[in-house]
Amino acid sequence: AKKVRTHHLRQMKECGERFTVLTSYDMYTARVFDEAGIDAILVGDSAANNVFGYPTSLPVTVEELIPLARAVAGSARRALVLADLPFGSYQASPEQAYLTAARFMKEAQVAAVKLEGGAEMAPQIKRLARGGIPVCAHIGFTPQYEHVLGGYRVQGRDDAAGRLLADARAVQDAGAFAVVLEMVPGEVAAEVTRELQIPTIGIGAGNHTNGQVLVWQDAFGLNTGRLPRFVKQYADLHGILLDAARSYAADVKDGSFPGPEHAF
Ligand code: KIV
Ligand code: NA
Repeated sequence: AKKVRTHHLRQMKECGERFTVLTSYDMYTARVFDEAGIDAILVGDSAANNVFGYPTSLPVTVEELIPLARAVAGSARRALVLADLPFGSYQASPEQAYLTAARFMKEAQVAAVKLEGGAEMAPQIKRLARGGIPVCAHIGFTPQYEHVLGGYRVQGRDDAAGRLLADARAVQDAGAFAVVLEMVPGEVAAEVTRELQIPTIGIGAGNHTNGQVLVWQDAFGLNTGRLPRFVKQYADLHGILLDAARSYAADVKDGSFPGPEHAF
């Protein structure tokens, strides 16, 4: 299958065709999601929570994320693979952003990067775009800024809707190829999607964005913690793995594994 490129997402928007995004942090899930026809795979800094077991996305480092991004980029044949720039690796300056993003492009061979922030990140987005690095923006609720946003809260409600739209326009004008809208009212996300030429990717942003993204451990039931309202659970992988591990343990304990067919 032909590789999905950033301009294909734009074309899908123009044709009114929705596209799909999932996170992945390793070879097997990247292969499965690619085989399923998922259009883009995000190596999110949500690896902090979902791979490394950190309480927030803030502690994860470039050194931790690059090997995961390399595994995913090397495993997806069709899907567009993009990686998050971790907290603290791009906010300081456009130069810092470029040097970090270039590492992801060279060392992990991803096709694009994502960073959090609106108008205030326009200089970073411009620097990357002009330096040959496709960049996806991320506005609305931005987990890297949870301590200034006051926790997990819907953004862009009421008076804040105008600012969200202004941020969306600013990242588009700076050269972003797409923008993630996280936890914003569906009507506001719909308006942003209508107003922008670049595609929007929603998570907790209703049903009128151009694409949707979910964290796979949430969507497929490996994470058994309290899930946000915007997650739909499509499978119970926790239950499947728990049963498998218990069966294995029981077989070993009672001597039924390994059987003669497993022995040399
Ligand atoms: O890190 C992540 O998984 C993300 C998506 C949820 C958009 O940024
Ligand atoms: Na992220």
